Amino acid sequence: MVGVARGFADRMVLRRSVRHFSSDPVPLEVVEEAVRAAASAPSGANVQPWRFVVVTDPERKRRLRLAAEAEEREFYGRRASAEWLEAVAPMGTDWRKPFLEVAPVVIVVFEVHQGPRSPKPYYVKESVGMAVGVLVTALHLAGLATLTHTPSPMRFLNEVCERPPEERPFVVLPVGFPAEDAWVPDLVRKPLGEVLVRR
Ligand SMILES: Cc1cc2nc3c(=O)[nH]c(=O)nc-3n(C[C@H](O)[C@H](O)[C@H](O)COP(=O)(O)O)c2cc1C
Repeated sequence: MVGVARGFADRMVLRRSVRHFSSDPVPLEVVEEAVRAAASAPSGANVQPWRFVVVTDPERKRRLRLAAEAEEREFYGRRASAEWLEAVAPMGTDWRKPFLEVAPVVIVVFEVHQGPRSPKPYYVKESVGMAVGVLVTALHLAGLATLTHTPSPMRFLNEVCERPPEERPFVVLPVGFPAEDAWVPDLVRKPLGEVLVRR
């Protein structure tokens, strides 16, 4: 058991958010199996309040990128606080989001709220967050890179993905292989002794 847990942790600490993708295709079956794993996540009252929209159509990815960049340009240029801009400076991010078009797959995850075909959910964000954690883990273990991307605001995603209003965008995950010249910021993790408290 210890070996399994250690082996899993050793593989998980190698996961990094990738912001520079290759356009090389990925096997869609891998993505669908990862979504199957994600959909097994625990959820409040087992309502499973999630929807995973797997976007591969180049035209739709382009629309997604253009709409996201329009919001992000506004956000970075006007609404973002100086504090936030300082916090994300090491990531080298700005309003440009080419990965939304270059990555072969973009998964848009929606929270599903009460609607004509969906019951009232409980603990929606906690549940969807757990499912996305499983999704990112499954894709990483299958050898694919992801970015957890949260454009602000995100309502444009309903239109681009043709989803009803009771579905609320939660996160956007470009999925693929890293570009040859991809780089990641030199981040450090908190040591175990700081995050784990024994009582
Ligand atoms: C909820 C959430 C939202 C995030 N939103 C963005 C984003 O919009 N753009 C981005 O470039 N990175 C985003 N990130 C990625 C984080 O910056 C990244 O996970 C963090 O810096 C740690 O780096 P790592 O994932 O490589 O370990 C987000 C991460 C999380 C968990």
